[in-house]
Amino acid sequence: KSYSETFRPQFHYSPEANWLNDPNGLVWYEGEYHLFYQHHPHSSVWGPMHWGHAVSRDLVHWEELPIALHPDHNGAIFSGSAVVDWRDTTGFFNGGSGLVAVFTHHDTQTPGGEPRQSQSLAYSADKGRTWTMYEGNPVLEDDQHVDYRDPKVIWDEERERWAMVLAAGQRILFYHSPDLIHWSLGSEFGASEGSHDGVWECPDLFRLPVDGRSGESRWVLIVSIGPNDELAEGSRTQYFVGEYDGVSFVNDNAPETVLWLDHGRDNYAGVTWSDVPAQDGRRLFIGWMNNWKYANLLPTEGWRGAMTLPRELGLVACEEGVRLRQLPVGELEALREPKLQMDHTVIKAGDGNILQDVHGSTLEIEAEIRLSGAPGFGFRLHGSGGQGTVIGYDAARSYLFIDRRNAGVSDFHSDFSCEHGAELKPEDDIIKLRIFIDHSSVEVFAGGGCVVLTDQVFPDPAHQELELYANEGSIEIMSLSIYGLKSIW
Ligand code: FRU
Repeated sequence: KSYSETFRPQFHYSPEANWLNDPNGLVWYEGEYHLFYQHHPHSSVWGPMHWGHAVSRDLVHWEELPIALHPDHNGAIFSGSAVVDWRDTTGFFNGGSGLVAVFTHHDTQTPGGEPRQSQSLAYSADKGRTWTMYEGNPVLEDDQHVDYRDPKVIWDEERERWAMVLAAGQRILFYHSPDLIHWSLGSEFGASEGSHDGVWECPDLFRLPVDGRSGESRWVLIVSIGPNDELAEGSRTQYFVGEYDGVSFVNDNAPETVLWLDHGRDNYAGVTWSDVPAQDGRRLFIGWMNNWKYANLLPTEGWRGAMTLPRELGLVACEEGVRLRQLPVGELEALREPKLQMDHTVIKAGDGNILQDVHGSTLEIEAEIRLSGAPGFGFRLHGSGGQGTVIGYDAARSYLFIDRRNAGVSDFHSDFSCEHGAELKPEDDIIKLRIFIDHSSVEVFAGGGCVVLTDQVFPDPAHQELELYANEGSIEIMSLSIYGLKSIW
């Protein structure tokens, strides 16, 4: 396996061949992080869905395994989750434990020809290597919703039973079950909450402590929303913060408040790992680094689609309320090869590029920049003379942005070429950024992880330049570290 094709990510997961979309069945079991995913094994565009499979011991290096779930008489295998059934509540494991996948069967062979979606189970007693379809599938059906999918199951510790969040049209349904087989509907959420720009998909539900407020915790409900032809943004992921009592979810924020998980264009259908050991305690997230707007059109050959970096989620108390933050997992530091380290250096607008000796196509940048009255600054990646991707800061608007209009190949979709960003307030006049650059992506973590931008870019592989510039006046580099990142393949 070479993983050396043009645009092939070097430290993000992508399948060796063919199509990938949503992460599925994220679960930790006996030393392995499992990553299943929506996969078409015979084509590099979306089609009859299977669950592809990869495992990792460190969230960084992945081994691709044979396909886990194949379409059967109930239909294609759409998105869903996996859990460890520690207590053998299902009876699948003869009193032992094993993995249970809970997913959507998407059936197109229906009498009326209308596709039908229902929820089903499969189980594995050999660490996810082989799977058995439950003979009683589907375990959950409904005749009201056409879009009825993406079950995410969690163990509800307080009530000692399973809980499921499921996307239905533009609502989230909350179910519970003693055994993963028999499900009761608890409540419905979302009629007038958050963004309704598209169909709701891929929910997740978990509780997190609030940093800096001892003893306080809140529930987070993640909801991805499908593309809307009238909006340039395409598919996006929103989240809600609130309370969950085993039956229903109550939003802490005003119904019209929309909280975006990511302000870039390419982080969709992300969910979190189940069963991460308590002594680790992290809530770990990964998303599909793509957008339905153009996902089938990306200029890659032989494979299509990649995951974001794995991220640790947390909650922080901000002025506006409790908000989600994401940070790349610490394990990624193992890939670093130091390239440059500097501090207390002033850069004036019009100065030469102090990074002219730094080249690379897989880089991590850690920067603390003092604005000192300058209207803005930026990093330009993969290019020179007007070419390249810009990660910039506009002080007048307190705005962090990615401009990929001149980033490289963009003619595969008219909405790909764009600039977008989010509000970011300086801390004591300083902007802190952590940037990860791979062959076809940039991920920017700012404001302690509260502002994140994830974007695909398709630069000419020959362009490996890096530039740091001030727009006018001068900025001060308080500290800057640049690392090359080793390939994981
Ligand atoms: C989200 C999604 C899910 C569905 C899957 C099909 O990207 O549309 O709702 O289960 O992809 O591949």
